[in-house]
Amino acid sequence: MNAQASAAPLIAMEGLGKVYEGASGDVRALAGVGLAIRAGEFVSVVGPSGCGKSTLLRLLAGLEPCEEGRLTLADRPVTGLSADVGVVFQAANLLPWMTVAENVALPLRVGTARRGGDPARIAALLQMAGLGEFAARYPYELSGGMQQRAGICRALARDPAILLMDEPFGALDALTRERMNVELQRIWQQSGKTVLLITHSIAEAIFLADRVVVMSARPGRVLADLPVAIPRPRSFDTIVSHPAYAALAREVRGLLNAEGALE
Ligand SMILES: Nc1ncnc2c1ncn2[C@@H]1O[C@H](COP(=O)(O)OP(=O)(O)O)[C@@H](O)[C@H]1O
Ligand SMILES: [Mg+2]
Repeated sequence: MNAQASAAPLIAMEGLGKVYEGASGDVRALAGVGLAIRAGEFVSVVGPSGCGKSTLLRLLAGLEPCEEGRLTLADRPVTGLSADVGVVFQAANLLPWMTVAENVALPLRVGTARRGGDPARIAALLQMAGLGEFAARYPYELSGGMQQRAGICRALARDPAILLMDEPFGALDALTRERMNVELQRIWQQSGKTVLLITHSIAEAIFLADRVVVMSARPGRVLADLPVAIPRPRSFDTIVSHPAYAALAREVRGLLNAEGALE
């Protein structure tokens, strides 16, 4: 956990639920989700396919209205998009006609701030993500992992306190993914952000997190909230030989297997 982590939760959910209303009936995605995340914490969320993980993230991001239960960021109810929240999805979705630096600065050109941001700050973000040399390149000149890192920079452009990530590395090959996990750990430790990461990789969940939250099959609720007592910085070489790692991986896998289909 980062030094800036404090006792009061930055993100708080109580009895959070979500029903999608459709022509062929209603779908209950979430039921009674309770979770508190402190500033500076890194929390991973795993759960069966379709259990409501993305729904949870969209509620937190203000992309879905909160109609059931309570959801607050720094004690304020979430009512819509917030500059305090950055979101990263599985596809980086960079605009192909803009350079990497322009893509990263994009969130600064919409909404209240129309100026395009401080170039030095954008350069520092790219530097932090190991993309310093690529500021003037176009997305097609970057590998998938680099594009995803640029997407993370874009999410951090407005300096949000909270970073929400929905299976951000799902489309990458296994080795690139491990490298990205190491990068993300470093970025998180340097930036002091509060991160909620949704992933279907148990290894990734444990490697990165202070806590692994396991969700039930739909309607999703919190089945378990497991602390990861493994010192940082972590590496994939050392973590697999840590006794807490194997025990935790077994516990998470057991919980997910009992819930049925794994993603
Ligand atoms: N916009 C929507 N309209 C109707 N049903 C939806 C919508 N989005 C998701 N769902 C349903 O809600 C459930 C949870 O979806 P989702 O949050 O995407 O799960 P996960 O990310 O865990 O795979 C699924 O059954 C899905 O089909
Ligand atoms: Mg999803």
